[in-house]
Amino acid sequence: MTSIHNHQWEILVVDDEEVIRRLLCHKLKSEGYTCVEAGGLRQAMEKMHERPADLAILDIMMPGGSGVELLPEIKKNYPDTIVIMATAVGDAETAIKCVRLGAYDYFTKPYNLDEVALSVARALNTRRLELEVLDYQQHLEEKVKVQADKIRDSFMNAVTALALALDAKDEYTSGHSGRVSEISVIIAKELGMHDSTLENIRLAGLIHDIGKIGVKEAVLNKPGKLTPEEFEHIKTHPAIGERILKPIVEEQDILDMVRLHHERFDGRGYPDGLSGERIPLGAAIMALADAFDAMTSDRPYRKSLGNTVAVEEIKKGSGTQFVPDVVEAFLRVERIIAADDVIS
Ligand SMILES: [Fe+2]
Repeated sequence: MTSIHNHQWEILVVDDEEVIRRLLCHKLKSEGYTCVEAGGLRQAMEKMHERPADLAILDIMMPGGSGVELLPEIKKNYPDTIVIMATAVGDAETAIKCVRLGAYDYFTKPYNLDEVALSVARALNTRRLELEVLDYQQHLEEKVKVQADKIRDSFMNAVTALALALDAKDEYTSGHSGRVSEISVIIAKELGMHDSTLENIRLAGLIHDIGKIGVKEAVLNKPGKLTPEEFEHIKTHPAIGERILKPIVEEQDILDMVRLHHERFDGRGYPDGLSGERIPLGAAIMALADAFDAMTSDRPYRKSLGNTVAVEEIKKGSGTQFVPDVVEAFLRVERIIAADDVIS
């Protein structure tokens, strides 16, 4: 059916008597409806097949087959079509049976054309209201989705801005999240990951350490070695990050990357101690990118190790700290990463 606002209602009149069909159609056309005629069951179904009518008026008594037979056929194949039965005086019982079978109304012959027009108008008005409700619901769903997407986007922008601001505040980690994001995407591309996944990885890289908002600054920026208690405190940041994002981020892979970017292949990572293939690939990539960038950056407690040493450390960590497939991919693109402007 077309849009309800400019919909031209079409009515099928099924009656074996041509004069009656003409009479009815003349009246219905004068009321502004389009009218199609059928002289029997078969022709009626052909017309419905060509273009389903909005409403059908079926004569009950026809030589080639009764409208009572046609009613269930129409209701089954064209459930949106309203059916009104036409019956001879004295056969109200059959007409009532038809109403039970799904007919909207019935008239008795000979027709009172004004009554017919009134019943048709009432039926189509009901149908119009139904369509309006349907139309409204569909548009409402679209509107809600657009609004939800906008809210999500602005939340993600705010979180990303916050993560980058946190990064920038600390001269030692300045630019870390951006670099982890870029390195992760380069490795993920090398592993043949899908474009939509790459976008999630890019975003997760930018916000992977957002949970550090919940870590005491004194611990975060401590120049010396951390006490066991302080290290336990630092270890809470991936789960805090996931908790911050969970109410609004639907993509499980982004949440996984944030929560699991400190997991290790041998199961000695945190917070969940996942091992081997139980670590999602995105999180395994991020763990490597995070470690590589940490090693090639100056930190409060040590200077950068330099690319060559960092690459050797990654190789050594394959199968213990890092997932071997991810290490192999990293080694294939290591030159691109080292040459990239973000890694200096
Ligand atoms: Fe982290």
